[in-house]
Amino acid sequence: MDNLKLWYWRPILPILIGVWIVAIFAVRWFAPAPPAPQTPSSRLQPSITNPSALAGTPTCSARGCHGGIDATPNPDRCQQNEYMQWARDPHADAYRTLFSERSQNIAKHLGDKKAHEDPRCLACHTNLLLASLPQDRAFVQQERLFGVGCESCHGSATGWLAAHTAPDWRQKKSRYAMPDLADATVAARTCAGCHVGAPGRDVNHDLIAAGHPRLAFEYGTYQAKMPAHWRPSKKSDAHLWTVGQVVTAQAALELLAHRANAGPWPEFAEYDCFACHHSLTQPSARQAPSRRKPGTLPWGSWYFALTRDVAGPLPALDVLEKTMQKPLPDRKQVAADTAAVLAEMKKHHETVVYENSRKRILDRLRTGTLAADASWDSAEQLYLALHALKPSSGLSDLAVERAFAAGFDGPLSWPRDRRGPFQPSRFVEKLKLLASE
Ligand code: HEC
Ligand code: HEC
Ligand code: HEC
Ligand code: HEC
Repeated sequence: MDNLKLWYWRPILPILIGVWIVAIFAVRWFAPAPPAPQTPSSRLQPSITNPSALAGTPTCSARGCHGGIDATPNPDRCQQNEYMQWARDPHADAYRTLFSERSQNIAKHLGDKKAHEDPRCLACHTNLLLASLPQDRAFVQQERLFGVGCESCHGSATGWLAAHTAPDWRQKKSRYAMPDLADATVAARTCAGCHVGAPGRDVNHDLIAAGHPRLAFEYGTYQAKMPAHWRPSKKSDAHLWTVGQVVTAQAALELLAHRANAGPWPEFAEYDCFACHHSLTQPSARQAPSRRKPGTLPWGSWYFALTRDVAGPLPALDVLEKTMQKPLPDRKQVAADTAAVLAEMKKHHETVVYENSRKRILDRLRTGTLAADASWDSAEQLYLALHALKPSSGLSDLAVERAFAAGFDGPLSWPRDRRGPFQPSRFVEKLKLLASE
């Protein structure tokens, strides 16, 4: 029934929106807020800061604003049909998801209240700020129906809502605290808050075991999967991939520091799932020789699979990895090691270019170090990387696909598809052969 109610709202939105716009503009007229000063660092912070500053998705969706049917032709302006594009985006349904059977089961397993009332779900399935407000407020009850609405990514709007309709907005934009999502670093950081996790927004092993999908975010892929409500971007796949690798590694480190300070510990979601969840058949890919000592836990298999290829050697990351591989890592040590890696990555930030990443990855492929560590996670990251980094010297899309096909042959029992079981190490071995040809 609740689901039906949500759909019922959409058709009467234009009316709501009209009233809303008039109200907001009236308020802005009598009490104009000074433009927030914007420093480079504040532009990289998660965008939402002040609860009372949320204006609500209906303030954006009027026909003449962002709720148009067709894209406007002027390439110097936004398309003005963003709301209609967003309406078919999975983000529009993120709150509705909390009423699904799966969500109800998750909530039941966690022994919590209803998923759609639980601030820990609302923090990502609406936004962090809305989740922090009393849920019985009329504004909150209305806005959360929009799931991950416009301000979840574009930031609290009241500070710039009136100003951003002015004809000279593009010139004045930098004076306001509107995050510039056309900048891949800013956008990737925004996504990472929900798709990697952050303090207060965490899909840890408790949530996963209760039934939540594991979060394994790769920025370029996800950006491409989102129905675009922006004009075609000139940014290359390689650029998005590289930025995404750096930003998601940093976000994962910040989350780890938070988990080490305040979360359940040790945190199983930090590790390769197949280290513990595997069948006991022999021979097994897990027994193949690798850099890791037998018995140590494979940490960071997703977010750190290719970090060194992107950022160059990171001795502090090697130290953290050793700490995390212990059966019960010391929380304080982890927090300290994590801070050291973050500092090291910041130092390297300037020198991160994708040409270097491509070269390092191909070198590691040819020398066999990538094959020795092949896991499901690293194979998937490698697959996405090679497609994003094309034209890669020597490895065409076709070669990557041939190697991928060769991976579907071997004794590992999961995951299966109609081609049989997939074995990551076979995929990487085949890539090695093709890269050395
Ligand atoms: C850290 C942010 C975060 C938190 C906290 C969170 N989720 Fe999610 N949830 C996501 C993201 C991101 C996805 C999409 C995952 C993907 O496809 O990569 C998702 C997906 C889901 C799905 C699967 C949706 C589908 O279409 O199959 C369900 C169900 C779900 N979440 C329910 C919940 C519930 C219930 C809670 C609270 C107990 C919760 N989530 C807490 C971020 C979060
Ligand atoms: C999940 C995150 C997300 C949500 C939710 C979202 N956007 Fe966006 N939006 C983006 C990103 C990322 C870009 C920039 C993409 C690029 O240029 O590469 C963008 C770009 C835009 C632009 C183009 C800006 C320009 O300078 O041309 C407009 C306008 C816009 N969004 C409006 C909206 C509106 C209105 C909503 C709500 C109906 C909304 N967005 C919801 C992520 C989001
Ligand atoms: C406020 C939290 C939040 C932010 C910020 C956010 N997302 Fe999401 N995203 C979600 C949730 C929650 C879901 C799952 C929705 C569902 O299925 O109910 C999701 C789903 C998705 C999906 C669909 C995944 C699938 O398996 O089909 C894509 C793609 C996606 N997000 C891309 C992005 C990108 C790109 C950005 C940044 C520009 C971003 N998201 C920012 C919360 C967020
Ligand atoms: C260090 C070992 C370890 C790692 C690593 C680990 N898990 Fe678990 N997981 C467990 C244990 C032990 C249980 C069973 C807890 C119980 O039944 O009380 C469990 C339970 C689960 C369950 C619930 C299964 C059920 O039938 O109730 C799921 C789902 C799950 N894990 C998924 C994952 C995913 C996904 C990952 C990777 C992100 C992961 N686990 C990483 C040890 C681990």
